Amino acid sequence: MDKDSQWWQQAVIYQIYPRSFNDSNGDGIGDLQGIIDRVDYLEQLGVDAVWLNPVYQSPNDDNGYDISNYRSIMDEFGTMKDMDKLLETFHDHGIKVIMDLVLNHTSDEHPWFINSRSSKNSQYRNYYIWKPGTDEGPPNNWTSAFGGSAWEYDPQTEEYYLHLFSRKQPDLNWENPDLRQDLYQMINWWLEKGIDGFRLDVINFISKNQNFPDGQPGEAVGKEHYANGPRIHEFLSEMAEKTFDKHRAMAVGETPFLTSDQALDFVGEDSNELDMVIPFEPLELDRIDRENWQIRDWELRELKNIISSWQRKLQEKNGWVSLYFNNHDQPRIVSRYGDDNQYHRQSATMLATLLFTLRGTPFIYQGEEIGMTNTEFSGLDDFDDIGTRNFVREAREAGQLNREEILRLASYLSRDNARTPKQWDDSRYAGFTTGQPWLKVNPDYPCINVKKALADQDSILHYYKKLIKLRKKYPSLVYDEYRLLLEDDPILFTYLRRYQDQTIGVILNFVGDKTPDERLPGKFAVADRELLLGNYGDDPNLSENLRPYEARIYKL
Ligand code: GLC
Ligand code: CA
Repeated sequence: MDKDSQWWQQAVIYQIYPRSFNDSNGDGIGDLQGIIDRVDYLEQLGVDAVWLNPVYQSPNDDNGYDISNYRSIMDEFGTMKDMDKLLETFHDHGIKVIMDLVLNHTSDEHPWFINSRSSKNSQYRNYYIWKPGTDEGPPNNWTSAFGGSAWEYDPQTEEYYLHLFSRKQPDLNWENPDLRQDLYQMINWWLEKGIDGFRLDVINFISKNQNFPDGQPGEAVGKEHYANGPRIHEFLSEMAEKTFDKHRAMAVGETPFLTSDQALDFVGEDSNELDMVIPFEPLELDRIDRENWQIRDWELRELKNIISSWQRKLQEKNGWVSLYFNNHDQPRIVSRYGDDNQYHRQSATMLATLLFTLRGTPFIYQGEEIGMTNTEFSGLDDFDDIGTRNFVREAREAGQLNREEILRLASYLSRDNARTPKQWDDSRYAGFTTGQPWLKVNPDYPCINVKKALADQDSILHYYKKLIKLRKKYPSLVYDEYRLLLEDDPILFTYLRRYQDQTIGVILNFVGDKTPDERLPGKFAVADRELLLGNYGDDPNLSENLRPYEARIYKL
């Protein structure tokens, strides 16, 4: 596959969480018509594609990641007609549409599962993973990402089924060729409608070690037996061949627990499985393990190491990666790696500068472009997300943490931080809805909203527009070489990007203090240096100190 000629390499993708983007009918829940109503905004921002979180029919145990019918739309979001209209409208505006697809599991309300659990002889029995129990109870010690055992006992047939997520999300059995064919047919059905690609949910979990051995104790027990499992590459290449390839559709894989060394097996030029992967490592620095509710201090050197090894590794075999800091599962980056207070604008734009100057495809998550922050939670009952609610419940039962501590951890780490309604203006409910929003609006909306950002030429939003334009203009921001400078510097993140005869240099100050210039390498001292973009606007002499969270992009 000639990966250089693909549209998605030069694209900027905007992620929409439909539930929280824009409500068109006042029921407090975002919907497809609401998204259609904002197409001009997205076009003006300059994005090439949108990725919608799942909009399929679902009982919403995990906000749409529990699909009960792949071929119909969630009632709250609208109808298939609305979906067709969305696709047409976005295409008319030159914006591609990527859907989210959950193939590792379905809802327990999917007809396949209802049938599967009804009898051991059901023709759908083997669409899921059923096992008899052991003396200790469940078949093995694997844990669910949302807490507790990954196995649920079903009295009807007296066996356990596997669910790596909630008990309402039973895992599909990819060993079964009939299931795989059914999934491929469904994917092709969507592709025939004109969908431009898919983001594949936890796609590296679909192949399980068929001996189902106990996992090592620790976080996500069992992961070594299901993340990047024995037949993963066989399944993914089969799927690509039967679906995406024929339609030249893009396939982005969400890949927890994947290291940069393993990534090339999925996206390297000699594999035909996925077009890009979504790495997790860059976003795990301030917490201990992915599913662990503990916060830790981190150092810039760690971030530089992780990003640099992904950049270098993938370039070896022309593999591609999604560049992101926010999504619907991540607390807001400006409240984590930046400063959502005194240096809100500076740190949000500095972090954006990093994303937009690396090799890969930048993804903007709704609200990131105006610097939306983590929200406030006043009590332990304030959380909506199933993962957070389970953590709160288990922590209370365990009794090791006091109330304040549980609230502090949950408030910092909860996925709800990403899911508060999009802040469009300073009217009641931030212009998201005229009704009562399904999740509380972040109280900072009078300050942080689209209307205000549009009116201010110096806003974070306008900076994003500039970054998007810059990326289109300079291929060296997209392709080829990445070279880290000042590797050990604890405060500055500085690197060169090079493609053909073009070199670009990036300087980022990761702290809210002024930083002495002598760290800056001679590389930047070239006479015809040109500032392409900086988050302070001006281009002071290089001997001046860098200002708090300053970011500069130079053509060298
Ligand atoms: C992915 C999704 C997340 C969901 C989980 C289970 O990690 O991004 O939102 O809860 O998969 O489907
Ligand atoms: Ca609605």
